[in-house]
Amino acid sequence: MGTPQRDVKVNYSEVQKDLLIEKHCAFLIGYGRSHNTYEYGATDYLRMSGIYWLCTCLDLLHSLKLIDQEHIIDYIQKCYDKNSGGYSPCPNHDPHLLYTLSAVQLLVQLNRTDLIDKQSLCSYIKQLQQDDGSFIGDQWGEIDTRFSFCAVACLKLIDSLDTIDIDRATNFIMSCLNFDGGFGCIPGAESHAGQIYCCLGFLSLVQRLDNLDLSTRNMLAWWLCERQLDKSGGLNGRPEKLPDVCYSWWVLASLKILGKIQWINREKLSKFILASQDDETGGCSDRPGNIPDPFHTLFGIAGLSLLNTYDENIIRKVNPVLCMPEYIIQKLEIKMQLL
Ligand code: FPP
Ligand code: ZN
Repeated sequence: MGTPQRDVKVNYSEVQKDLLIEKHCAFLIGYGRSHNTYEYGATDYLRMSGIYWLCTCLDLLHSLKLIDQEHIIDYIQKCYDKNSGGYSPCPNHDPHLLYTLSAVQLLVQLNRTDLIDKQSLCSYIKQLQQDDGSFIGDQWGEIDTRFSFCAVACLKLIDSLDTIDIDRATNFIMSCLNFDGGFGCIPGAESHAGQIYCCLGFLSLVQRLDNLDLSTRNMLAWWLCERQLDKSGGLNGRPEKLPDVCYSWWVLASLKILGKIQWINREKLSKFILASQDDETGGCSDRPGNIPDPFHTLFGIAGLSLLNTYDENIIRKVNPVLCMPEYIIQKLEIKMQLL
C-alpha cells in the first residue's frame, strides 16, 4: 500500500451545492469599492491584476455592466508608464509584464484598445527579451516562463507577435521541459501546474505545440490528471500539495490545450469548487472553509466554465489560453492552437 495522499476533508453532505451567482457578483463589486479596507491597501502591488480577475469573473457571469467601466479605464491610464510603454500595478509603481498583460486584457475586454499605444507597448516587450529567448518581467531582471507567456499573450491581443524573436523564445520554453513532461519557471526547475499552463499557453499562442511529441504530451497529461485528489476531488499544483481552487484553472486549462480535459473527474471537481464558495459573503476561497478572494473566485468560475458544468446563459465560455470570455477572442479572430 502506498502512502496516503495529502488532502483536505470535505463533508459533502453539509457544504454548498448550488452556484451562488448573485452573491459572487455582490462580493466582486464590493471588493472593487472597498478602498478603505486593509485588503485593498495590502494588495496595491498587484491591483491591476486584481481588477482583471474581478472584471473577467463578472463578465463570465454576464454581469460586467454592474461595474463603473469609466472608473477602471481611468485607473488603467494612471498606471501607464509613458517612459517605458508598460503598465504598473498601481499609480507610481514600476511597470511590469504581469500587470501590462492584465491592463491589455482589461482594455480589450472593455473594448478600449484605441487607448493602447501599440508601438510603445511593442518596444517595451521587445526590450525585455534576453539573448537566450527568455523574458525578464521588469528592469530587475528576474527570468520566469510566466513572463514569456505574458509577452506573447500581450502581443497576440494587439496582433503584433512578430515584434519578438519567436524561435528563440520557443527554444527557451522548450529548455524548461522536464523529464516528467512538465515545465518549471527556468531550465531545471521543478514542474509546477502554473508554469505548465504558461508554457503550454505560450506554445498554443505561437502555434508550436508540435514541439511536444506524442509521448511527452501523454506523459504531461498524465502528470496533470494525477493532480486530482481522490477524497476531496480538488486539484493540487504539484505532488504532495493540498488541493486549491485556482489549480482548477491552471490544470484544466493545460489539459484543455492538450485535448485531454476528459481525464479529470468532472463531477468531483465541480463539487469541490462549489464547496469552496462562501455562502455568507459570496466569493470562492482556495479550499472549503477559508476566506474568499477575487483570484480564487475567478479561477473557480473559469474552471466550472471549462468543465461545462453550467449552461452558457449562466457561465459564459472561457478561452482556455487567455482566460478571457471566448466571445471576445472570437470577435477579435485571435487564433491559437489546441490539440
Ligand atoms: C501559481 O502561482 C500560478 C502560476 C505560477 C501561474 C501564473 C500565471 C500568470 C501570472 C500568467 C497570467 C495568467 C492568466 C490567467 C492570464 P502561486 O504563486 O499561487 O503558486 P503556489 O501555489 O505554488 O504558491
Ligand atoms: Zn490558489
